Amino acid sequence: MTSMDAYIARRARLAAKIGDAVAILATAPERARNRDSHYPYRFDSYFYYLTGFTEPEAVYVLIGGSEPRSLLFCRSKNEEREIWDGFRYGPQGARAAFAMDETFPIEALDEQMPKLLGDRDRVFFSLGADPAWDMRLTSWLNAVRAMVRTGVRAPSEVVDLRSHLDEMRLVKDGYELETMRKAAAISAGAHRRAMRTVRPGMHEYEIEAEILHEFARHGAQAPAYTSIVAGGANACVLHYVTNRCVLQDNDLLLIDAGCELDGYASDITRTFPVGGRFEGQRKALYEIVLEAQRQAIDAVRPGASFNDPHAAAVRVLTQGLVDVGLLGGEVGGLIESGAYRRFYMHRTGHWLGLDVHDAGDYGSEGKWKPLVEGMVLTVEPGLYVRPAEDIPQAFWNIGIRIEDDVVVTASANEVLTAAVPKSVSDIEALMRSD
Ligand code: GLY
Ligand code: MN
Ligand code: MN
Repeated sequence: MTSMDAYIARRARLAAKIGDAVAILATAPERARNRDSHYPYRFDSYFYYLTGFTEPEAVYVLIGGSEPRSLLFCRSKNEEREIWDGFRYGPQGARAAFAMDETFPIEALDEQMPKLLGDRDRVFFSLGADPAWDMRLTSWLNAVRAMVRTGVRAPSEVVDLRSHLDEMRLVKDGYELETMRKAAAISAGAHRRAMRTVRPGMHEYEIEAEILHEFARHGAQAPAYTSIVAGGANACVLHYVTNRCVLQDNDLLLIDAGCELDGYASDITRTFPVGGRFEGQRKALYEIVLEAQRQAIDAVRPGASFNDPHAAAVRVLTQGLVDVGLLGGEVGGLIESGAYRRFYMHRTGHWLGLDVHDAGDYGSEGKWKPLVEGMVLTVEPGLYVRPAEDIPQAFWNIGIRIEDDVVVTASANEVLTAAVPKSVSDIEALMRSD
């Protein structure tokens, strides 16, 4: 499956959902970082999902009906701007390259949209995503209403487009899985490199640099999220991204980092000893998290519920916390009361795809979503022990998480990120190599 086949198939599926309505999707705006400098540009995931088009200032319009048509509004060719900022497809170039039926310069949007919306009952739109686009839609609808005396009917319903696309994005097609496999392989290489490189006395940012270098040299366009490189106590800060501290011999190092390749995220966490050997209570807690992760991954299969991996992880973690003396009491009761949340305060995973926390519902009406073939989710249990009077000092400041990216297959699951070691002996062996 080529990428263009995938986009065309998705447009056809969306067309089937919207009937003879019109769907409108704008891409993300460019954002200034400071004077004349912009944040790295990232297109809107929904827009990209249907177009594959990565330039800013673009709008995709799908005209539903018996013969659906795909329209793209994009920036015009501009020699002056292309000298400064680089190539633009322009409407004519984009039409063939992105399999559009019609293309227009973006400046034509306000003129064309009222015509395209006339005599349509419904508009599919990401209402509420961006107030500026909400106002723009309102102005187009008012322009159609102004034409009613010429015998044109204005749409009477605006329907949320995202919920329809969310359902589609939840189940990945062959092209998406292929891309996610590649993204996962690059990120796996970066984690292996971090394990081989780390030495006591290095800074967290030096390890972050190794990871980013590995992403970039394999063609990943960006990290999928800000990398967490957290030594010792920093690992107990769930979203630690400062990455400025010196790594100590006795510390564990928690790295949560994944690249984005061609729009698709990977998301891996590994925790390993800066000095190369797991010891004492760090090793004991690590083995508990590893077993929780193993059982949670086992729970990923078609027909299971999204919550099953979490329930499996919580059972193993809570039992482990009792075994090492951090919790006292009976496991069932500790789960029911939520006592384990003192040491495990996040959930075991999330959907993964174009966004690191990907689109899609997790359940509705009090029921968790059932897993089906082609869904991709992370499995990422952890334990985090902050200093407290009632906790033996040997456990203080230990933070551990192990995270892999898992595809639901026809029979069970496939772990996309299995190339990074996670057993104590495999990690220690890799750290000894070189
Ligand atoms: N890296 C973000 C997460 O694990 O959810
Ligand atoms: Mn994650
Ligand atoms: Mn992560």
